[in-house]
Amino acid sequence: MARAEAFLTTTAPLAGSNPYLMGNFRPVVEETVRTGPFTVEGAIPPDLNGLLLRNGPNPAVVQNSDTYHWFSGDGMLHGLELRDGALLGYRNRFVRTRMLADEIGTMSPRGPREAINGPANTNVISFANRILVLVESGLPHRMTPDLETVCVEDFDGTLASPMTAHPKIDPETGAMAAFGYDPFGPPYLRYHEITPEGKIVWTTAIDLPSCVMIHDAMVSATQIGFFDLPVGLDAELAMAGVALPFRFDPEGRSRVGLLDRGTPGERVQWLSVEPCYVFHVVNAFDDGADLVADLYCYDRTFDTGMGRLLGSALPRLERWRMSPTATAVHRTVLDDLPAEFPRIDDAMAGRPYAHGYATQIARRDGLDAFPGYVKINADHGTVARIDLPDHLQASEPIFVRASDGKTDEEGWLLAVEYDRTSDSSDLVIYDAHAFSAKPEARIHLPVRIPFGFHGAYLDAGHFN
Ligand SMILES: [Fe+2]
Repeated sequence: MARAEAFLTTTAPLAGSNPYLMGNFRPVVEETVRTGPFTVEGAIPPDLNGLLLRNGPNPAVVQNSDTYHWFSGDGMLHGLELRDGALLGYRNRFVRTRMLADEIGTMSPRGPREAINGPANTNVISFANRILVLVESGLPHRMTPDLETVCVEDFDGTLASPMTAHPKIDPETGAMAAFGYDPFGPPYLRYHEITPEGKIVWTTAIDLPSCVMIHDAMVSATQIGFFDLPVGLDAELAMAGVALPFRFDPEGRSRVGLLDRGTPGERVQWLSVEPCYVFHVVNAFDDGADLVADLYCYDRTFDTGMGRLLGSALPRLERWRMSPTATAVHRTVLDDLPAEFPRIDDAMAGRPYAHGYATQIARRDGLDAFPGYVKINADHGTVARIDLPDHLQASEPIFVRASDGKTDEEGWLLAVEYDRTSDSSDLVIYDAHAFSAKPEARIHLPVRIPFGFHGAYLDAGHFN
């Protein structure tokens, strides 16, 4: 029987009919530590020695349960430690942001002030010997492996504006390519090159005419491609206090900006693209002088207005080719099966790669649902798929290369699945090569992990 230790509890109100406060979108109200043994079906691969971290929205307080949106909840980290073929323990913690301090009186974090006291709910990464949680509306927060909040992170005073939740770390140099869009600009977009030790060496301001939401970027070893797509900051929604005041404009500016990563301040080359939106890039790489990116593209998203819920198309996998001699992006549909939360072997970031993995996405009763996984074959544009039984829902599959793995499919996929019948979650480990619906291991957790966004796997050597 797993042992439990409870810490902070909250009372997020669950009244009303907001779907993002129901089912596995609803928050958990307790911080807890559980230690094993846990019930395991199958066998946990013994070379998985590390810490799986996941981040996602988990509102401690819901100010208005009619208007609450999934993207705006407080960040909660979940940690699962694997060792020698066993799950040693689970813990969860709210990220101690100033927003949480304002809401429920937790200690405010040390570190620089931010323009907005927002949530830190989107991603978690390991960089420069730090664990950082990220959200695009603010600065990173530095965490301990025990999920305690250390401080707001500004890279020794070199970061002063919001930073993306999807920076890219070069697998060879350890340097980070990061950017941030800033509603309080101009500039509305900045691009930073950050040393492996965690210091911004230079920043290029990119002169956008207005603020648009930019969630991810296309980063190769030598180039970065910025999305300037028509999901813009909407003054009417902002004035009304909408938490995410962005709106899709089918007539709006829609283009991609290419910049050489080598030096600061070079001129951005703009290529047009049909109005659409991209949240996530699978991977990008150089092909001669061209930048090539595989990504999930929406015909429309954040299709909203005053008093209307967000509308969105479903995404499809596309390959975008951006040539310095072209005036427009060349688009090819690789696969129509809707999926999101793509992951690759991080060792292939910015390089030609063979495989990626993603979560199937569907709409059920107007809500996002996650019925399984896809495996992307970048060479052939084909996919394999895992379809889960109806009572289970998937999450972002994090690839961990096996200790003797030679390629980007010789490893494991780690995901958390929600089991509707028990209203609890499982840690599930798939063989990325076999990509079979029967996992190597399914570990039943005595807790529920709400649907979240992104996570990371830290090898034990990186945090002990
Ligand atoms: Fe994301």
